Amino acid sequence: MLPAIDFTSTNAFKYLTDHYIDIAPKSLRELFGTDSERFKKFSIQFEDILVDYSKNRTDEQTVALLVQLAKECGVKEAIEAMFTGEKINVTENREVLHTALRNRSNTPVLVDGKDVMPAVNAVLAQMKTFTEAVLSGEWKGYTGKAITDVVNIGIGGSDLGPVMVTEALKAYKTHLNLHFVSNVDGTHIAEALKKIDPETTLFLIASKTFTTQETMANAHSARDWFLNNGGTEADVAKHFAALSTNASAVSKFGIDTKNMFEFWDWVGGRYSLCSAIGLSIALGIGFDKFEELLDGAHAMDLHFRNAEFEQNIPVILALLGIWYNNFFEAESHAILPYDQYLHRFAAYFQQGDMESNGKYVDRNGNRVEYETGPIIWGEPGTNGQHAFYQLIHQGTKLVPCDFIAPAQSHNPVGEHHTLLLSNFFAQTEALMNGKTHEEVVAELQAQGKTGAEIEKLAPFKVFEGNRPTNSILVKKVTPHVLGSLIAMYEHKIFVQGIIWNIYSFDQWGVELGKQLAGKILPELRTADEVSTHDSSTNGLINQYKEWR
Ligand code: F6P
Repeated sequence: MLPAIDFTSTNAFKYLTDHYIDIAPKSLRELFGTDSERFKKFSIQFEDILVDYSKNRTDEQTVALLVQLAKECGVKEAIEAMFTGEKINVTENREVLHTALRNRSNTPVLVDGKDVMPAVNAVLAQMKTFTEAVLSGEWKGYTGKAITDVVNIGIGGSDLGPVMVTEALKAYKTHLNLHFVSNVDGTHIAEALKKIDPETTLFLIASKTFTTQETMANAHSARDWFLNNGGTEADVAKHFAALSTNASAVSKFGIDTKNMFEFWDWVGGRYSLCSAIGLSIALGIGFDKFEELLDGAHAMDLHFRNAEFEQNIPVILALLGIWYNNFFEAESHAILPYDQYLHRFAAYFQQGDMESNGKYVDRNGNRVEYETGPIIWGEPGTNGQHAFYQLIHQGTKLVPCDFIAPAQSHNPVGEHHTLLLSNFFAQTEALMNGKTHEEVVAELQAQGKTGAEIEKLAPFKVFEGNRPTNSILVKKVTPHVLGSLIAMYEHKIFVQGIIWNIYSFDQWGVELGKQLAGKILPELRTADEVSTHDSSTNGLINQYKEWR
């Protein structure tokens, strides 16, 4: 059982409320000015990952009080409850065991008294055999040719993770061409189908439930295309595999359950990339590299489970997020990778975080009276710098940011990586220090501006700074490091959900739209005028019918 404590009624919260009054007026310049040890005190190194959180509006007392908050909220007990397979996803009556998928130590993990590790290992072995058969060319299509293209059809957690990881690890790409189809918009599948040949294509239908409308529509269209372009029903087995928890729906669709890669209802969709859902990753980078990804995630799992909170990266990141969300009233959090390969990283954790912690009902079933999950957004640097950083630097909103960069590039082209990293370092420094009025005046004087010109321009050129950032510097984006980064954010989200006293592993909020779409669909199938909705919805539907 998870504790169900209102974190605003803890002692730590009361102390933090007072402490906030002291800290809020202080600038980061000042905090660094009075403590030359900040970097040493407020950074944690774990394997090839360095997390520098010193550029936050915090001091030692803040960190101590935030850690106290985590303790009072029962975070330690909650971590144990998750790892040991308690049914902490209460509203769905499920365990939360994505950590078992990458439990490389192979210690038993019990679900209803039964160790799940033999089943986890059996599916990994099945994935390995399959991946190697496809990659070696031993697995043949219906005309005897080897597979050249893989199309993963899935959405949300059955798409975003594989897309993000295969992009992030493109430097390790196998000879297979990967395609991802998620949107129910026919354009998505139509464009993918233009690029492939039915004789050499493997479709992976990735869906935990195997009922998701978008995925089923795309899967049926893929199968129709296959059958209309030379394949027969008997050939489907060579070209379609399913990644799912729902064996009966898989065989009903027409996929032989021999070609099904199973996972379990204790794996949440947005936490599933280490499960069979990762088959496209294994095909895309090779099974050994997929295992390295699992190893990295497992290493971070162990760190999260065992490290003291003061030295625990996911816990510290979670607590800093709470500090800004609940004391500074920041509404969003930006993830800014200085690595082109990580261009879908923020999008991936948009689902990871917002679907997990975008909840206003607490674990007691009451409406919360505080803010919960932030809006997660971000794009790779330096593109973001030329798009939205203006607001981060000089806007009216406080946007705490995570800057992520590798020290080593997979593509050391000329001076590019040095240029990139100079921006990575410069941005957090600029956000922290800003530029004072005096500095602006001196700069304008040096440019030969007149006093009147300086007076006019100066206010626009001042940066107040004091904008908090975390810098996450990694040695290189290897499968191992990426696995660790993924687990790091997963656990950060978990800790925040525990403290906000919400259930992070359900997603009822996506249901209403699905239900209404199901009701509207039959109305769209006829030409009749619709009058069953509000005037806006009726008006829009009727105009659509007129124009289509
Ligand atoms: O968006 C809702 C959701 O249920 C996600 O949690 C999930 O990742 C996605 O739909 C896809 O679900 P499935 O894998 O069952 O097709």
